[in-house]
Amino acid sequence: MIPPVVECIRAAKSFGPTRAVEDVSFAVGPGEVVGFLGSSGSGKTTLLRLIAGFETVSAGEVRIADKVVSSPYDHVPSERRNVGVVFQEYALFPHLTVAENVEFGLGKLSRHERRRRSGRVLEMVRLDGMGRRYPHQLSGGEQQRVALARTLAPRPVTILLDEPFSNLDASMKSEMRREVCEILKESGATAVFVTHDREEAFAMADRVAVLQSGRLEQIDSPSALYHSPATPLVAKATGACDFLPGRIRGGRAVTDFGSLAVAACSGGLREGTEVDVLIRADDLQLAPDPSAAAVVTSREFRGDEVLLAVRTPSGATVHCRRHHYSTLECETRVRLFPVRSEPFVAFPRRPGA
Ligand SMILES: Nc1ncnc2c1ncn2[C@@H]1O[C@H](COP(=O)(O)OP(=O)(O)OP(=O)(O)O)[C@@H](O)[C@H]1O
Ligand SMILES: [Mg+2]
Repeated sequence: MIPPVVECIRAAKSFGPTRAVEDVSFAVGPGEVVGFLGSSGSGKTTLLRLIAGFETVSAGEVRIADKVVSSPYDHVPSERRNVGVVFQEYALFPHLTVAENVEFGLGKLSRHERRRRSGRVLEMVRLDGMGRRYPHQLSGGEQQRVALARTLAPRPVTILLDEPFSNLDASMKSEMRREVCEILKESGATAVFVTHDREEAFAMADRVAVLQSGRLEQIDSPSALYHSPATPLVAKATGACDFLPGRIRGGRAVTDFGSLAVAACSGGLREGTEVDVLIRADDLQLAPDPSAAAVVTSREFRGDEVLLAVRTPSGATVHCRRHHYSTLECETRVRLFPVRSEPFVAFPRRPGA
């Protein structure tokens, strides 16, 4: 079996009383791109710093290319880990040209080899011909690509990226995402990036790991996380959603507008269990029906769609996406029906939740 390139085994880091990273285990395979998704303060940067070797672990292990590089007893310094890091503020040296910036980390190689490598990576990031410019003569996106080229040039075993696009505007961001993704795949690099932006995580990562308060909630493909989240927290982190109360009867969740097929979830769903059924805005459709008990309570025109909020008889609110030409107005009584092809995901209701 091919060993993982990066592996954390029950890794933890505390700063005094703050547990920034707790009991985190995962493995990243060769050529894989894994994105950590978490809100501010969830431990994303700390985790990258543990892998890079800028921090020591309080417990557990970090392994790179099957060697322990961090444990409470061992710490291989950052410069001996062969890891490339792209930070949020991708500080280029302002007094060096683009080519010199890229060649900076290649000190051990001959001059000829340095030139050859920097030429090759600049081509890869589509900046060939710009080697003689200085950073201030580049756009933000171009500077970002130089930073990436500089990181790729020494051929690190893995690349770590900390919120690499947070300085860019929205349109630039999606273009850069696509480009960086292509560059990573083309170079065969193994990469770990962190972000608080789920679109970014979904667009770039082969697998996404949801981080919350320093803990890893779930790691899986973007579609598996979205469709089959293991916890309500992962459901919320991966997209807008509502929770509809129900009770398990005959293997289905009985709700106040009908019974829904549910997937068996962790912990099992015994007969009579009270559950919260996860509803995404595409899961239900509606039809006007004056005799129905559900009612449209708000209507938000979003340009490419209309988002309706519907109150069910028990007082729960679910959202439904409609075509942008939809004329359904507030106060309309509607019948709800499921249009999801897969069974719904239901979470056992915790007492007091
Ligand atoms: N050097 C430090 N000393 C003390 N506490 C720290 C230190 N570094 C991080 N922390 C704390 O650890 C927690 C995680 O911080 P971290 O920087 O990893 O979060 P993050 O997910 O990267 O957040 P952001 O999205 O805001 O960058 C926070 O509560 C933070 O205050
Ligand atoms: Mg951070």
